[in-house]
Amino acid sequence: MKRLGILLSGRGSNFLAIADAIAEHRLDAEIAVVISNRPDAPGLAAALERGLHAISFPSQGLDREIYDRQLIEGLRAHHVDLICLAGYMRILSGYFIREFPQRILNIHPSLLPAFPGLDAQHQALEHGAKITGCTVHFVDEGLDSGPIIAQTPVPVLDQDTVESLSTRILQEEHRLYSKAIALVLSGNYRIDGRRVISSML
Ligand code: GAR
Repeated sequence: MKRLGILLSGRGSNFLAIADAIAEHRLDAEIAVVISNRPDAPGLAAALERGLHAISFPSQGLDREIYDRQLIEGLRAHHVDLICLAGYMRILSGYFIREFPQRILNIHPSLLPAFPGLDAQHQALEHGAKITGCTVHFVDEGLDSGPIIAQTPVPVLDQDTVESLSTRILQEEHRLYSKAIALVLSGNYRIDGRRVISSML
């Protein structure tokens, strides 16, 4: 069974959607460990409630690479095969990323390369985009810039607020992430330049 390491900083709804997909046999994997850089993250409490290994490594004030070394140790100790960022709001060092080549996934609430970085839903509204959505991608050393695995579009409605748009995008995130994880775990893809090619997509 492939072992997932989840990194989160907040609410953890994407983590819970992954946990549900596993429980409902839509995703063949197990969650080896959940790590948060914020001790008060609701996602961490939810992981503990589900009886998972959940660890908090507070990041405040720590040098990025020193912190990431701790993180690597925690993930290695739990023998993770794939790392899933699920609302992990801290930039990873190149050191961390090079430790797990093409083994780190992220979910982002826009159709990348549009609206990378923080507050992607706000950026889409401000820009007047008619369609936004969500993206699962491999993590490389840039900001939300790694090869794209899967995307779902979400229309922007005239009456949308950041909250209403975020809610509709989040529903799609919850569907998309488990499918993208299943694809990567299956190994049934290849990366050609920036393109992730798979008969499963
Ligand atoms: C999600 O919308 C996720 O796409 C976003 O944070 C939210 C976390 O929600 N991630 C980013 O913006 C990363 N740049 P969750 O804690 O309920 O999964």
